[in-house]
Amino acid sequence: MKAGFDLTRRKVLLSAAATLAAPAFTRAAGMMTAPPRGATENFNPDVDVELVCKRDAVNILDGAPTQVWRYAGNLLKGPANTLTALPGSYLGPLMRFAKGQKIRIRLRNDLPEPTIAHWHGLHVPMEADGHPKAAIDPGQTYVYEFEMRNRAGFYLYHPHTHEATATQVYHGLAGGIVVEDEEERALGLPSGEYEIPIVLQDRSFDDNNQLAYWGGMHRDMFGFYGERILVNGRPDYGLDVASRAYRFRVLNASNARIYKLRWDDGTPLTVIGVDGGLLERPQTRPYAMLSPGERLDLWVDFSGRKTGSKLVMRSGAFDGLTPPMAQRMGGGRLLVGDDYPLFSVTVARETNDSPKLPEKLSTLRHYRRADVANPDNPRPIALSMGHMQLAINGRAYGHDEVMDIERIPVDTVQLFEIFHDHGGGGMGGGMGMMGTMDMAHPIHLHGEQFEILERRYSGDDPGSYATFQEGLIDSGLKDTVLVAPGERVLIAKPFNDFKGRFMYHCHNLEHEDMGMMREFSVE
Ligand code: C2O
Ligand code: CU
Repeated sequence: MKAGFDLTRRKVLLSAAATLAAPAFTRAAGMMTAPPRGATENFNPDVDVELVCKRDAVNILDGAPTQVWRYAGNLLKGPANTLTALPGSYLGPLMRFAKGQKIRIRLRNDLPEPTIAHWHGLHVPMEADGHPKAAIDPGQTYVYEFEMRNRAGFYLYHPHTHEATATQVYHGLAGGIVVEDEEERALGLPSGEYEIPIVLQDRSFDDNNQLAYWGGMHRDMFGFYGERILVNGRPDYGLDVASRAYRFRVLNASNARIYKLRWDDGTPLTVIGVDGGLLERPQTRPYAMLSPGERLDLWVDFSGRKTGSKLVMRSGAFDGLTPPMAQRMGGGRLLVGDDYPLFSVTVARETNDSPKLPEKLSTLRHYRRADVANPDNPRPIALSMGHMQLAINGRAYGHDEVMDIERIPVDTVQLFEIFHDHGGGGMGGGMGMMGTMDMAHPIHLHGEQFEILERRYSGDDPGSYATFQEGLIDSGLKDTVLVAPGERVLIAKPFNDFKGRFMYHCHNLEHEDMGMMREFSVE
């Protein structure tokens, strides 16, 4: 059996259809009949949260409210600031945890189809990782229990439902997770009202203000590209700030859209952290690439700016990375490689109490080749989208057993080489010979954060590649890495503590659902 363009298997969850209680989900052969529960005996949580997945209506545009799916949170036990609702947003509550906390999350499914949530970037046991096979039916509750092992950072949660991750996220199911720890607290970075989550998404709306999951075959092949940018679930997002330093915690929670963040007045970006928390030292970039699943922690200093001055964060023009055809067919008027505004900032108040940017932010462990179990034999993660099939190492998700190269001894560090299977072509991607095609893929590995050791480019468009590379921040801890056509990326990833099955996949969510996903068996 091949996964491919069998569109009949895919659910089209336009909001109208979403009101019909008819789960189209069929459990594949081999799925466990009783879904596993993450609950363990004698677990005494510091934090106990209920997350209800439910239908709701939210005012996003002028006029009719938009039907969405969302996570609604209830704090049953724990510090009062554990859950923060984003005003006027369909996004789930921002969850704030501390390293070392024992956390219980009860996920209740009040949707008309199965779902399961995944804590993206967190190092948790398999039972708490949101494996697609753990999906729960309508009316059921899944209990997650785990200890927070991650260092401070900005993580996210979203569904990981078999072949329905893209549609469920699209209809609103996503949220951010802030983890705090002592090392970071000691720095006194901007916090409270000076720490701002920026969750970037793109959506299309029909004439009745309802979410439209447009794009057909092109959407399935290249991913969904919406016509409007939403920040924290709001259109035309604007922030009023004081003339001082802020911390912007940026998350790309779009299904497929890649952003090239830049300030409209040419102010460089000051990056203090990425997926897995703070960098060792701040780094500046003229612009920064941010693909789905990735995060950027920005230090943004408005000191010295006069009341009323305005700054716009834009996504800058870039070519390549996504086939031009997809840009036209799927992107509507908002083309992927265009230059367009994301949100604006207005200085509303002058102050001079700004904190200073620390020169040193943290200390990170570094892997050398000698630290990994397979220094001369990187395990391949070969990405292909040829012949109407998306695959990793030649196989789509769910139709094959674990391959030998996917069996990982627990408590080892493994070297991986991620690359495009064919066509070391130009950055432009697009249709090649024999119906093969190529575009950049954001590759996410569950479990512990990894380190990017090296990128090599052997494509035929070094000019575009140099531009791409200038917007990368590869030096921190990562769980998602954008891999361009023609590139080979070496990463070192630890697999400590937990045995079991853990996913790795493209975080272009349409690609994930179309089979560009596999799993490791840590044993
Ligand atoms: Cu953010 Cu396996 O996903
Ligand atoms: Cu992909």
